Amino acid sequence: MTFLEKIRCLFTFGQGVALPMPELDEETTPLALFEKWFNDANKAGILLPESMSISTCGHDGQPKSRMVLLKAYDEQGFVFYTNYGSDKHQQLSENSKIAILFHWGVLQRQVRIEGTIEHTSKEQSEQYFHSRDRGSQIGAWASHQSHVMTDNNELKNRVQHFTEKFKGQEIPLPEFWGGIRVVPTYFEFWQGRASRLHDRLCFDVTQTPNQVFKRHP
Ligand SMILES: Cc1cc2nc3c(=O)[nH]c(=O)nc-3n(C[C@H](O)[C@H](O)[C@H](O)COP(=O)(O)O)c2cc1C
Repeated sequence: MTFLEKIRCLFTFGQGVALPMPELDEETTPLALFEKWFNDANKAGILLPESMSISTCGHDGQPKSRMVLLKAYDEQGFVFYTNYGSDKHQQLSENSKIAILFHWGVLQRQVRIEGTIEHTSKEQSEQYFHSRDRGSQIGAWASHQSHVMTDNNELKNRVQHFTEKFKGQEIPLPEFWGGIRVVPTYFEFWQGRASRLHDRLCFDVTQTPNQVFKRHP
């Protein structure tokens, strides 16, 4: 993002005019466009541009959303890490469909991605798990993510327990923890514009070649 573009973003914040939509040529893939926008968000100094909302919906039909961190993305999909005993994972095991949402407010941009999930390989989860600081590795062991606490000290006691258990040794990857890869079926790039005449550029990636279209804002 150039200095001029940053200034323009600041001046136009709240008015719905930020940056131009990129010219698309036949080579433009949604992944390349995502990479460009993600880099712009990084360069704009946005705190945690990799944070994204994920929405899931299990058998009961109740959608649930929460934030996670995007840790990797490529042609295979978009990866985050979590506890496989969590609520979100339970919902995903009942219904593998998922929706991701990024919002980069200062750039007046959102990206929506829909898809289905698969698990990362144990090797990939292990590699990421061991790249985390020791405290986060203990935290993964200690947290019964999403489960109701039996008492206020439960988490603290479990942290203490696993800190002692793994003292002086490498902490293994818990069986119940790892990566989830979202394999996209649909992308939408939203750019704020004046008078709420926003741009919505969409890609249906289930079609070959990808179907590209715009939606009314
Ligand atoms: C900015 C942010 C990033 C987060 N990143 C993660 C993450 O990468 N993985 C994760 O399991 N939870 C993450 N959380 C916590 C989740 O939002 C959520 O509380 C937790 O995963 C339990 O969700 P569930 O009970 O619906 O499964 C994050 C929360 C915030 C606010």
